[in-house]
Amino acid sequence: MSHASTLLEKISNRTAKVGVVGLGYVGLPLAVEFGQAGFRVTGIDLDARKVAQLNRGESYIQDVPTSAVAALVQAGTLSATTDPGAVRDFDTINICVPTPLRKTKDPDLSFVVSAVEAIAGHLHPGMLVILESTTYPGTTEEVVQPILEKTGLKAGVDFFLAFSPERVDPGNEKWTTKNVPKVVGGLTPDCTRLAGALYRSSIDTVVEVSSPKVAEMVKLLENTFRAVNIGMVNELALMCDRLGISVWEVVDAAATKPFGFMPFYPGPGLGGHCIPIDPFYLSWKVKEVGFEARFIELAGQVNGAMPHHVVDKITDALNTQSKAVNGANIFVLGVAYKRDIDDVRESPALDVMALLLKKGARVTYHDPFAPAIDGGHWAGGIDMASVPLTAEALSAADCVVILTDHRQFDVADIVKRSRLIVDTRNSVKTDHPHVFKLGAPVPIQ
Ligand SMILES: NC(=O)c1ccc[n+]([C@@H]2O[C@H](COP(=O)([O-])OP(=O)(O)OC[C@H]3O[C@@H](n4cnc5c(N)ncnc54)[C@H](O)[C@@H]3O)[C@@H](O)[C@H]2O)c1
Repeated sequence: MSHASTLLEKISNRTAKVGVVGLGYVGLPLAVEFGQAGFRVTGIDLDARKVAQLNRGESYIQDVPTSAVAALVQAGTLSATTDPGAVRDFDTINICVPTPLRKTKDPDLSFVVSAVEAIAGHLHPGMLVILESTTYPGTTEEVVQPILEKTGLKAGVDFFLAFSPERVDPGNEKWTTKNVPKVVGGLTPDCTRLAGALYRSSIDTVVEVSSPKVAEMVKLLENTFRAVNIGMVNELALMCDRLGISVWEVVDAAATKPFGFMPFYPGPGLGGHCIPIDPFYLSWKVKEVGFEARFIELAGQVNGAMPHHVVDKITDALNTQSKAVNGANIFVLGVAYKRDIDDVRESPALDVMALLLKKGARVTYHDPFAPAIDGGHWAGGIDMASVPLTAEALSAADCVVILTDHRQFDVADIVKRSRLIVDTRNSVKTDHPHVFKLGAPVPIQ
C-alpha cells in the first residue's frame, strides 16, 4: 500500500495518531474536536502551565468547556506534553503556533520555523503536516517545505503537506471550530485529499482549494476585508463627528438595504491576534514583487489613529466641564478587544489607557473578563487590576469611558451614576447631556 492509502485508512478507522503543536486559542479547540471524533490526540506546547492544566483535565480557553477537556483526558484520548520528541509517534500534525508582527510590522515567523524544525527532527515517511497559523502566501512552500525536505524526505511523495487557515471567532456561540467550513490546500492532490479527510472526520464542511498558496491568501482576504471595512466605517465616524451626524444611526439605516451592503461598526480601534496583524503579512509579501498594498496601509493608518481620536473625544468632553485630562480621574469600562471575551491582545483599550496615562490622567479600569493587566504586555507599562464596578467608582470618576461593550454591563445604571461618559461602542442608546459618543453629535448641554 502507498503511504497515502495507508494514512487514509488510519484516518478513516481513527487509528491515526494526531498531534497538535501549539495549544492556544486555535490549537486547544482543534485538539478537542479531533479527540471527540475518536482520535488519540497529543498536544505539544512550550508553555508548561498549559500542558499541566490540560493534563489535569482543565480548559484555559473560554470557548472550550472544561467538561469537554476532562472527558477526553479521563478517557485517555487527549494529553499534552512539552516534549517536541512526541512528534515521532504522530501520523498527522497541525501546527497552530503564533505568527505575530515585529515592531517594524514585518512578519515574525520564528515560532513557525522553530516548530517545523522540531518536527523535522522526527519526520517519518507517511506523515501529514498541516500549517494552520495565519501567514503570507507562499509560507508553506517557501519556508515549511524546505525545512522538512532537509531530512531527505520529499513532500507529496514521502510525506504530505498542506495549509488550512483557522477561522475561530472567540466568544461566538453559533459558529465554532466544528461548524465553520474549513478551507484546505495541499501541495499535491494527495496532500489535499489527506488533509481534507482528516478535517472531515471532525469538521462539518471542508472546502478544498488548489494549493497552499490559495488557502493562505483566502485567510488574508477574509481578514483584510474586515480591516478595510472597519477602517472605512471608522473614517465615516470621524466625518460624522465633524458633521454632527450619528454614524450609528446611519449604519443601522443603511443595513436595512437587503442587498449589496454589510454593516460594519466603528470603535476605538482594532484588536486581537488577527485583524490588526494579518493584513500586514500580505502587504509585506507583495513588496517583494514591487507592489504597494494601499488599502491595507490606509486601513492600518485610520484604524491605528482611532485610540488618539478617542482621547481627543475624552479631552473635549472634559472640556465642557472645565476640566483637563491631566489629573482627571478616568474610569475605563472594558479592556478586552471585543465584547464578552477575555483576550486583551492588541486591544485598542490598552492604547487609549496608555495615551491617557501619558497625559497625566489617573486611570482605573473594570473588566469582568480581564482581572489584571501585566505591565510587560502593554504600552502603559504598569501592572493594573480591575476595580469593582460600584456606584462609588462611577460617581467618583471625572469621566467614564466605555471601550468594550460587555453584555453584563448595566448601561442604564452606568448612565445614572456617572457624571460624564464617553461611549465608543454605542452602548447608550438614548441621548443624555453627559454622554458623548464616538461618531455622533455633541450632546445638547
Ligand atoms: N486567536 C484567534 O482568534 C485566531 C483566529 C484565527 C487564526 N489565528 C491564528 O492562529 C495562530 C495561533 O494563534 P492563537 O491565537 O492560537 O495563539 P496562542 O498564543 O493562543 O497559542 C499559540 C500557542 O503556541 C505555543 N507555541 C509557540 N511556539 C511553540 C512551539 N515551537 N512548539 C509548541 N508550542 C509552541 C504557545 O506557547 C501558545 O500556547 C496564529 O497564526 C493566529 O494568527 C488565531
